[in-house]
Order: sequence, then structure tokens, then C-alpha cells
Amino acid sequence: MKSNEIKNELYNQNTQPLRKHKIFNNWDVVTKGWYSTVRSNSLKKGDKKSVLLNGQKLIVYRAETGKVFCLDNFCPHMGVDLTLGKVIDENIRCFFHHWKFDSTGKCIDIPCGEAPPKKLRLNSYQTIEKYGLVWIYPQAQTDEELLKIPSLEGLDDESICYKIDKVFYRKCHFHITMINGIDPQHLSTVHNININMDVDIVNTRPNHIEIGLQGNFTNSNLKERLGSLIFGQSYSYSMKYADGCLAGLTMMKDSKLFNLIPMPQLHMYFSYSQREVGNVIVRPIYVNKKDLGLFGPIKNWFKLNLTKALFKMLQGEDGQIYDNIRFNTEAFLKVDGPIIKYISYINKLAPSVWSKKMPGSDHEAS
Ligand code: FES
Ligand SMILES: [Fe+2]
Repeated sequence: MKSNEIKNELYNQNTQPLRKHKIFNNWDVVTKGWYSTVRSNSLKKGDKKSVLLNGQKLIVYRAETGKVFCLDNFCPHMGVDLTLGKVIDENIRCFFHHWKFDSTGKCIDIPCGEAPPKKLRLNSYQTIEKYGLVWIYPQAQTDEELLKIPSLEGLDDESICYKIDKVFYRKCHFHITMINGIDPQHLSTVHNININMDVDIVNTRPNHIEIGLQGNFTNSNLKERLGSLIFGQSYSYSMKYADGCLAGLTMMKDSKLFNLIPMPQLHMYFSYSQREVGNVIVRPIYVNKKDLGLFGPIKNWFKLNLTKALFKMLQGEDGQIYDNIRFNTEAFLKVDGPIIKYISYINKLAPSVWSKKMPGSDHEAS
């Protein structure tokens, strides 16, 4: 989508006015949370990359020590792109006049001998490497608990295998696409799965929410009969949302192949960020418990690729909805209760320093 294309929100303003939410579906607000960026293995020691994330241009670099750091991208002296500079130890030196900045953004050396202007600072951001990606948190430091990317059900303290998928794009805010997993009505209407769901929502921490869904196949069509044969008569999955920008899905809970052989649970993350107003980046990451031993690699390959295949099966059916939606919160029914709770959770999240009007621009995500 071109950045000057009119978004659906701008249409029908008199006849179909929209309620503006504090945070939910609000492009001007970027919540605090972990946002995935470049692949870890694309950043060797001494490498640096410019990353456009949520309307913020950032430099991400790997120091000689192997640690990854993230700063605002432009030199505070005259605004030169710091990725033109050089990584020295854990610092970055600007190409233009060789001012040197440490990993906290403090200016530690000016070759001409003058002291840096007072209040000169470059914002630094917390980074973490997980699932083969560099993740950035829009704050210099976070407390111990927030430093963790939430693990998925049954994967605490386990060794993990993972597979990073290519990013794809959506034209609506990711707060809306995240509803997909907790909208039981659409499972029957869109995906033709007439599953009766009991939805259970738990607020585990102010910035996390967990949603359990479980039900029984009704065997009313071929897809369902196949589903109940492969997965067993009952079906359950859970969603975990962190900070309104990361969703975790655990599926095939308690599933038995042909009602006999216990199947492994399958897990995946969706990591979301804004590319620009009206354009969202979604990164699927498939994860599972790492099986060891002779057949470990084959089992791991099977679990990760089965997760991918199941996700791809449903993704196409949903795509046209989310690329054309003008999301409305005025006509919810009782059955939409989980969505109402989810929206209220999003509206209580903490905005970050990146909250502002998003410029339209290109993105380097791969
Ligand atoms: S612009 Fe960076 S040191 Fe002058
Ligand atoms: Fe769906």
C-alpha cells in the first residue's frame, strides 16, 4: 500500500463515525513491549544495521564483545546516519566528525577536544536475542520481569527449536488482527469449523493476558469429521498476549491422532510492529520443545513444519478480512465478550517514547 493511499478510517466519517480508542487501533501510540527486528545471524561482530521500527529509525549493532545494542539512528551533532560510522569495542563512532558514543548513548569522545554540549544524548534501547532474532524494547532499561519474552504453555525451562518465517503485511492495525484467535464466531463462518468454544480469559500480569478456548467438533461437515479423526473429538488451544505486540498460540492441546496416539502440542508466536500508518508487519515464529537423540532433528522438523502448515491453511482465509476492514466497536454482542475484554486490556497498556504520528516510509524488514 502506498503511504498516501487513504485509509478506510477516513471514509464514511459522518454516516459511520468511529470511536477513537486511547490505545487500541490507535496508530499514534506505540506500547512498551518487545518488537522483533533483524535476524541475529545477519549481525556479525562489528556489523551495524539501520532498522525502521514503529516509525523510529534505529541503529542496531553487534559490539566486538558479541553484545547487541540499539540507539537512535542519527548523530546528535549534525544528524548523520550512524550506520555510516564504525563500531569500536561497545561504542559507535560517527563517520562525520568522529564523535564517539557508548552503548548507553552517552558521548564519550570528541576528537577536536571540546566538551559535548550539555543535555546531549542519544536514546538507547534494551535489546535481547531470542528465537534467532534481535528484539528491541522502546526503553533504555526494563525491570527483570519485563526482560523476558513470555514462554508458551509447557515450554518453560525447556530447550527450544524454532523456525523463523518470512514477514507478511497487513493493512489494518495489529491490535485488530490479534483478535483472530479469540473470535470463536468466525471459526464456523469463515473457516467452516463449527466448534463450540468455551472461552476463558485470565489477566496474568497488567501487560499480559491469557485466553483458553476449548470445545468439541460437531462433525457437521467433512472438515470437522477429518478434524475430529485426526485431533480427537475435543479440541483446545490457548493464546497468550504480551504488551499488545506479541501473540503466542498453543494448539493441539490434548490431541490424539486417530483418538489413540498422543500428539505433541504445537506453538507459534506472531510478532507485530508498524511499518507505517496503515501497514503492519507480522513475523510468524514456530517454536517447540527440542527433541534430542537420533530422530530428534526429524521430529523437530516435523513439529515446526506441521505448525507452519496449519497456520498457512487458516491464514489465506482470513487475509481478505484484515486487509479491508474498518473496525467498528459499536455493535458487539454477548458472544463478542472476549473481544471486549481484550480491547480493555490493550487500552490499559503503557505507551512508549515512540508514541507519535507515524511518518510514511519504506521498511527494511526481511
Ligand atoms: S555529525 Fe556526527 S560527529 Fe558530527
Ligand atoms: Fe481465522
